[in-house]
Amino acid sequence: MLAVRFEKSGTPTEVLQVQDIPKPTPARGEVLVRMIASPINPSDVMYVEGRYGLKPTLPATPGFEGVGIVESSGGGLLGRFRVGKRVAVLGSRTGGWAEYAVASAKQVFPIPDAVPDDQAAAFFVNPATAFLITTKVLAVPRGEWLLQTAAGSQLGRMVILLGKKFGFRTINVVRRREQVAELQKLGADVVLVSDDGPLAEQVRAVTGQPGVRYAMDPVGGTVGTAALEALAQGGTLIVYGALSNAPIQADPRFLITGSKVVRGFWLSDWAQSATILQKLRLMRTVRQLLADGVIRTEVGTTFPLSQITEAVRAATTDGKAGKVLLRIGISGANPTETSR
Ligand SMILES: NC(=O)c1ccc[n+]([C@@H]2O[C@H](COP(=O)([O-])OP(=O)(O)OC[C@H]3O[C@@H](n4cnc5c(N)ncnc54)[C@H](OP(=O)(O)O)[C@@H]3O)[C@@H](O)[C@H]2O)c1
Repeated sequence: MLAVRFEKSGTPTEVLQVQDIPKPTPARGEVLVRMIASPINPSDVMYVEGRYGLKPTLPATPGFEGVGIVESSGGGLLGRFRVGKRVAVLGSRTGGWAEYAVASAKQVFPIPDAVPDDQAAAFFVNPATAFLITTKVLAVPRGEWLLQTAAGSQLGRMVILLGKKFGFRTINVVRRREQVAELQKLGADVVLVSDDGPLAEQVRAVTGQPGVRYAMDPVGGTVGTAALEALAQGGTLIVYGALSNAPIQADPRFLITGSKVVRGFWLSDWAQSATILQKLRLMRTVRQLLADGVIRTEVGTTFPLSQITEAVRAATTDGKAGKVLLRIGISGANPTETSR
């Protein structure tokens, strides 16, 4: 089968190659999935660069999530039950950027027909993180302000849509002015451009309050520092990404007065500590939010596996429109490899 692989960590456009390798074999409790599509997420890029929380065993195939059809089971009741089903694949053992992937039967989730392949491919990482941070970790009350940076990201757009659904108001920080109208159209209550002056002052001007109690930042550096400085007394900033690759600066006196909190969130940690019941409940919620069209991923350019270099270049270009997807196969019952 064809698979994207890297033999050393580094810049994705330099280290990723498409190789012909043996199809993996599922062990007991695992399933073999014929992949249909997989997104290129910032976490995949960081994994290839060696900057992610999980370190690859080389050579490795990236791709933390995707959609495919379960072709066979390595044994076990759940795996046998999944054969023939179209599923979202999460954290497969062998990596999703390949024609076939092996995953635990517990890590593949049947997707209703109403959810198209493109949405199913990016089923979990962003929707689950947006849902968990806003409704569980911060638990933003109805009517309260939530400040978020990199608001034009796919995850940021989901936060805006969740705000509309659950009744909290969003202050959305972007670095490109052209995103203001786009996010307003999506339902953003306020959109601020980071270059338009100190964020804390901009926030005070729109809210009429000394700051916000809820904030989330995937950027770090000056943007994350500005989000921290926009907190009110008792405020919490959730840090969930490192897009700038730079540290957040915190003045101890600012943190001390008003007992402000800076807290990390990583979906992988959540998944490790959650009970089976909590995970199933989250899956069901995300599936419903997608099926009802409450949240969605805006899909940008799609590429076959064979164009992996072009695909990662597109995914890592500033100002890209939508999530870059690898289109690996088709949904039909007979495997047709479109990636060669
Ligand atoms: N902790 C977790 O468990 C978890 C789970 C899921 C996602 N995440 C994180 O969530 C973030 C968003 O993911 P995504 O898939 O939604 O990303 P995405 O769609 O690729 O969007 C990335 C966004 O970040 C902006 N950006 C990139 N570098 C920036 C910088 N230095 N300063 C300001 N803005 C910057 C981009 O702005 P332009 O449009 O101007 O280029 C773009 O809007 C990523 O950091 C990802 O790692 C974390």
